Amino acid sequence: MAGFQPAALVISLLLLSSAFAAVPCGNSPHQCIVGEATCVGGSCECDAAKYVEGDGYFYCQRAGENIAWLRNDPELRTFSEQKLKHPNLCRVLVAHVFQTLKSTSGITIGNSQVKVHAFQAKDKGKIYVYGFDVAALLSIQMLGTFIGRSARVYGTLQDGVPQITRQGALSFSADGPFLDVDIDYVETVTGAGITLTTDVANNREVFQVLGAGVTITFVPYDEVLRRDQLNMPGLLVKVDSSYGTTFQTAGNPVGKTPDLIYNVTGTDLTAEALALQYSYNGPVQQSQPDPSAECSDIQGFTSAECSADEYLRGSQACLWLLQQPRFMRCVDDSKNGTVVQGLFNMCIKSYCLEAAMCSQVIADISAAGCSDVRDIAELASFMTGAQCPS
Ligand SMILES: *[C@@H]1O[C@H](CO)[C@@H](O)[C@H](O)[C@H]1NC(C)=O
Ligand SMILES: *[C@@H]1O[C@H](CO)[C@@H](O)[C@H](O)[C@H]1NC(C)=O
Repeated sequence: MAGFQPAALVISLLLLSSAFAAVPCGNSPHQCIVGEATCVGGSCECDAAKYVEGDGYFYCQRAGENIAWLRNDPELRTFSEQKLKHPNLCRVLVAHVFQTLKSTSGITIGNSQVKVHAFQAKDKGKIYVYGFDVAALLSIQMLGTFIGRSARVYGTLQDGVPQITRQGALSFSADGPFLDVDIDYVETVTGAGITLTTDVANNREVFQVLGAGVTITFVPYDEVLRRDQLNMPGLLVKVDSSYGTTFQTAGNPVGKTPDLIYNVTGTDLTAEALALQYSYNGPVQQSQPDPSAECSDIQGFTSAECSADEYLRGSQACLWLLQQPRFMRCVDDSKNGTVVQGLFNMCIKSYCLEAAMCSQVIADISAAGCSDVRDIAELASFMTGAQCPS
C-alpha cells in the first residue's frame, strides 16, 4: 500500500495545478484572480459580465461597489479613490462603515457596522501588509439579536507556502484580544452572518459579512519570492453601496459619500505627510503582533507637541527616512521597523520639541554605517545638517 502513496500525491498535485491554472499573465509575475478575471492578450481582464472596473490582478469591482486597499509599495487607496504612499509601520484604520443588513431574499432586517485596521511590517527595506483586524456587529432587529464577531489574520508566504495566523473574538472588539476561536456564524432564517475562509486558488484569506455587502480579502506577501510571487499581495476592502453605506472616517463626520480624507488644499503638506499625521493623531491602539514601541510613542506626540508649521517643516525634512528602501535596509534589520520609525520620530521631535535631537539622528545614522548609502539625495543632504531646524 505504501508504494501507492507517492503516485497518489503526484496525481493530486497535478489536479491541483491544472484546476487552478496557476500561471502568470503577460509580463507580470502575477496570475489573474481565479473566478474573476482572465488573461487576454497579455493582461488580466475582469469578467465584463460581472465587473465594471479593475485590473484583474488585484481587484475587480462591481457596479455600486466602493473599494479601499492597502498594498505594496505601501499604497493606501481610500473609498474616495484617493491613492497615496503610506509608509507607516504602525497599526492604521483602513475602513469603518455602517451598512443596512438584508436577508438572502433582500428584505431589510437590521443594520451592521464593520471596522478594519491593518498593520504593515518590514522585510529588508520593503514595507508590506502583514495583516488585518476586522470587527463586525450585526443588529438583526427582526429577531431582536446582536451578533458581534472579530478576526485577526496575519502572516506571510514563504516560497508559496502560507504561514498564516487566524484568530478571533466572539464580540465586536476592534482591538482584540484575539483568541483561537472559530468565528463563523450564519443565522439560519435570514442568512445574515460572518465567515472567514481561505480562497486557495487565489492564496487569499476572505472575511465576509453576509447580508451587509462587505468583503475583505488579504493576500499575504511572499518573503522569499518577493516581487515574483504568483498572487498580487495586499488588503482589499469592498463595500456594496446598495446596502445604504454610511462612511465613518477617523475624526470626520459620518458621510453618505466617501470623504476626500486627505485634503491638502490650503496646506503645504503632501498627502503622504497628512496621512501620517492623521494616523499618528488617531486613537488607534498599537495592538498588532510585535508592535514597535515607537508607534505608541509618536501617537499623541504629534498632536500634543507639534504646531501645524512645525509638523509641516518636520515632515519635509524627515519623511524620506520612511521612504528609502535601501536606506531602511541598511539601518534597520527588524521586522517591526522599530529603528527607522525611531529615527523618524526623533527627527520630527527635533522640529517640535528639541532641535538638538536632529544631530542625534545624524549621529545614529553614522554609527549604523549608513551615512552614504548611494544615490539617495535626501540622505546626503540630511547628513550635512542642512535639514536640521535652525
Ligand atoms: C478641500 O479643502 C478645501 C479647503 O478647506 C475645500 O474648499 C474643499 O472643498 C475641500 N475639497 C473636498 C473635495 O473636500
Ligand atoms: C521590534 O523588533 C525588534 C527587533 O526584531 C525587537 O527586538 C523588539 O522587541 C520588537 N518590539 C518592539 C516593541 O520594539
